[in-house]
Amino acid sequence: MSDAIEYELKGDIAVLRANNPPVNALGHAVRTGLIAGLERAEAEAKAVLIVGAGHTYFAGADIKEFGKPLREPGLPGVCTRIENSPLPVISAIHGTALGGGLEVALGTHYRIAVPSAKVGLPEVHLGILPGAGGTQRLPRVIGAEKAIEIITSGRHVGAAEALELGILDEVEEGDVETIGLAYAQRILDAGLGPRPVGQMPRPTPVDFDSAYVAAMKRGRGQIAPATAIRSIEGACHYDITEGLEHERALFMTLFNSPQREGMVHAFFNERAVSKLPELKGVEPRALKTIGVIGGGTMGAGIAVAALLAGLDVTMVERDAEAAKAGAARVNVILQGSVKRGKLSQSKYDAIMASGFRALDSCDALSEADMVIEAAFEEMGVKKAIFAELDRVCKKGAVLASNTSYLDVNEIAASISRPRDVLGLHFFSPAHVMKLLEVVVADETAPDVVATGFALGKALRKIAVRSGVCDGFIGNRILKTYRSCADHMIMDGASPYEIDKAMTDFGFAMGPYEVADLAGLDIGWATRKRLAPTRDVRERVARYADKMCEAGNFGQKTGKGYYVYEAGKRGGTPNPEVIALIEAERADLGVTAQDFTHEDIQRRYMCAMVNEAAMVVDEGIARRPLDVDMVLLFGYGFPRHWGGPLKWADLQGLDGILADIKRYAMADDFFWQPSALLERLVAAGKTFDDLNKGDTV
Ligand code: 3HC
Repeated sequence: MSDAIEYELKGDIAVLRANNPPVNALGHAVRTGLIAGLERAEAEAKAVLIVGAGHTYFAGADIKEFGKPLREPGLPGVCTRIENSPLPVISAIHGTALGGGLEVALGTHYRIAVPSAKVGLPEVHLGILPGAGGTQRLPRVIGAEKAIEIITSGRHVGAAEALELGILDEVEEGDVETIGLAYAQRILDAGLGPRPVGQMPRPTPVDFDSAYVAAMKRGRGQIAPATAIRSIEGACHYDITEGLEHERALFMTLFNSPQREGMVHAFFNERAVSKLPELKGVEPRALKTIGVIGGGTMGAGIAVAALLAGLDVTMVERDAEAAKAGAARVNVILQGSVKRGKLSQSKYDAIMASGFRALDSCDALSEADMVIEAAFEEMGVKKAIFAELDRVCKKGAVLASNTSYLDVNEIAASISRPRDVLGLHFFSPAHVMKLLEVVVADETAPDVVATGFALGKALRKIAVRSGVCDGFIGNRILKTYRSCADHMIMDGASPYEIDKAMTDFGFAMGPYEVADLAGLDIGWATRKRLAPTRDVRERVARYADKMCEAGNFGQKTGKGYYVYEAGKRGGTPNPEVIALIEAERADLGVTAQDFTHEDIQRRYMCAMVNEAAMVVDEGIARRPLDVDMVLLFGYGFPRHWGGPLKWADLQGLDGILADIKRYAMADDFFWQPSALLERLVAAGKTFDDLNKGDTV
């Protein structure tokens, strides 16, 4: 028997105890052990109890085995073997029974869990569908409609709800193995035998076509949820054997799709991104009290994020009135959290009583472990604040700037303790957005970097290391692909075609919808800032400046690329924009070309990949996966492609380089192929090879 399944006979009951830390994933050794344990139990026991050692029941198939040759026994066969056992087989669940874990549990005949347990079929988040009977057995237990909801959302279902739905038979407080054994004994005492879910009546059909169409729409290009619905539909028409075959065929189409690769890339790298080799063994500094300079939208969001993580926050504004306004902003967000049930009233009361204060002097920050400056985006303002912090903050305090573009090296060099300075680039709204760029300046001390990452972890954010450059990883790449979109507009595409092409690609919003939301004045200010140093060969669209000069800043003024009517969601295309664009084309003597959706997507993505490759080559991002996680968690990049550089790997880097060179024939200033991309193509390697430590 494999070590991954411990076997113990306790009276009449054989216990099969999974011991495959950290999450008892159902790898080859576990599957083999389950079959061997079952065979032995059938020779000497009257019932079988399956339970997990450590923190959890099985958290699913072993995702690390994906992409490798399948080793028998496969999981569907294991579940069927359990279901067909002549002995009653019982699952006792604690922690999580997810994916293949819940499928094993549904293969067993009876299920008991502790109240804190969670079950679910989250396979769609990995670009696949439950492939070991989940789409056949779950609908037999809870009906097709509920199964569609649980499988297409992939959500974790708490024990109480699972009991109500009938996924669990009993929920009981106590040690999981003890309650499992007692339950198994009750089943034996009652003379109950196996109760195979596969033999239950087929579920009643629902309107699968409408559910499929809705899932395709919601998926924005992701195919797994809709495909899972077709598999559930099979449960209504086929017996269990045919249904499992149908499920397998659909599972394999997804398993072999690039979307599965993209989603699995996202799964592992959102965990890997904050584990920096250079921080191994480096202890972060103490982090209990935080100062936030600035009570605007960003400062208030940062303060809320820190307060919700249990940190003590002092906000500082320039005068008492501004401090009061900042405190009010924090209060509004926190009260909203209470209303939505995200924060208990007692926690809110505790925060307002002692965790948070807003004042008008930096002197209040003398004892802060870390201060995050979120003031106006201007170097002079930042330097004045840092000089003040240098004066008042205790020795060893971490001094962070939330700048989006400015040179953190210059800020650090302006004070007496540059080793304590780093950038912490939050994304708005800071209490919601998952991304945190930890910007490491030339002099930043390793334990200060570690403290930046410790803050990210405490705030449950995806923290990514970035070097210093204009815009850091994310905004620098954004600037390039936005310029590419602007060039396409000058050459004949409309902003609305570009927005549609990119939402069809999978982005939540198109670039011009985002611009309207963020405020067009932001891009205008950046263009003005960069104008004095701009290369004369750079193409810059002037019509956008004209929109701003007319006071149209997007949603906040009711007009931008779109026109927004009060009380209505979304906007309609603004005809004035088209007129401005056409006038500029006429001025420049440009004849509008046609762009297909595919042309738009390809150019936009090539621009993104090319700049991202430069960012990696320059060491601003240490690994391609850092770029991928920045775009996924800060810029709405579709998760099913894993990130822009994973997308590039999946398309083939040689084709991307060839297209960049083709575009360069018309504009060789903008389209300068990245040297890293050229080296990768020459060596026949991928960006993911670099993630695994390869070099070119
Ligand atoms: N396979 C392999 N490794 C896994 C894994 C899995 N199913 N689930 C988690 N891990 C690894 C993680 O990568 C991580 O490794 P690391 O320490 O080297 O980074 C480690 O286990 C701990 O994971 P977390 O950091 O995520 O721990 P948490 O306690 O925060 O969360 C969890 C635990 C809720 C179980 C979470 O890990 C999770 O959601 N896992 C994925 C569950 C899942 O998707 N299951 C379905 C798999 S697909 C399937 O079953 C196909 C079948 O239908 C045929």
